[in-house]
Amino acid sequence: MNITGSTIVITGAARGLGRAMALALADKGASLALIDLDADAAESTARDCQSRGGQATAFTANIASEADVVEVFAAIKERFGGIHGLINNAGILRDGLLVKARDGNVIKRMSLDEWQSVIDVNLTGVFLCGREAATHMIEGGQGGVIINISSISRAGNAGQSNYSAAKAAVAALSVTWAKELARFGIRSASISPGFTDTEMVASMKPEARQRIETMVPLGRLARPDEMASTAVFIFENDYVSGRSFDIDGGLRL
Ligand SMILES: NC(=O)c1ccc[n+]([C@@H]2O[C@H](COP(=O)([O-])OP(=O)(O)OC[C@H]3O[C@@H](n4cnc5c(N)ncnc54)[C@H](O)[C@@H]3O)[C@@H](O)[C@H]2O)c1
Repeated sequence: MNITGSTIVITGAARGLGRAMALALADKGASLALIDLDADAAESTARDCQSRGGQATAFTANIASEADVVEVFAAIKERFGGIHGLINNAGILRDGLLVKARDGNVIKRMSLDEWQSVIDVNLTGVFLCGREAATHMIEGGQGGVIINISSISRAGNAGQSNYSAAKAAVAALSVTWAKELARFGIRSASISPGFTDTEMVASMKPEARQRIETMVPLGRLARPDEMASTAVFIFENDYVSGRSFDIDGGLRL
């Protein structure tokens, strides 16, 4: 895909990986539709993209809401005339053990709300945005590319039943969509980042961050731009489909 002049939708574009991917794609001449719950921060990303010479518009929507997603994709189609790319990036964490016990007594369990809120955003949100983007891409007749942001936690990670399940599922969705949508000229792939230096990991205690850095063979967290360059590669290489790219500094969970 030629990124220049293509319209690419990014969810969770207000900050972190979404923002880094928006800036990298703006540098390549993409027209960007930036979806987030945080309207002010998404506007700020849009302004930074515009100052690099790209077209960018911020849209406020909750990707876990079917009505919001249908409405926002229609608004994006209206604003830009077509949709050629989607990065399903928005995600949340609600970590906790399935069952926490001390001295044989259960003291805490992952609540249904902790489970469901992560599934709603990290899995159902990806399904809703992927379905909407594919619909507009097929109707536009020009094909497209859908990237799902998974995680190395998709292999299964203690304290992340909800998150690991959702991230394994979105990697499987990319494989499924690569198979179902190839006949419409649509490719799909996923990126599985390792620990990356964004607000999402900034909330960690310094000792936890240090422990992770020593676990990573390359000895540091990833930079958001290292995920952005992977997204650019997937968009530009027309033979990439149905695979997950682990960008993790050699760390394998
Ligand atoms: N940072 C990491 O180490 C890391 C590692 C692996 C995978 N990931 C994944 O990468 C993606 C981005 O992570 P990040 O670190 O940039 O996160 P972040 O928390 O810094 O940013 C996430 C953005 O998504 C938005 N968002 C959350 N829920 C939303 C909703 N319901 N509707 C619309 N927008 C919503 C937030 O407002 C925020 O702007 C996530 O899917 C995350 O799971 C991150």
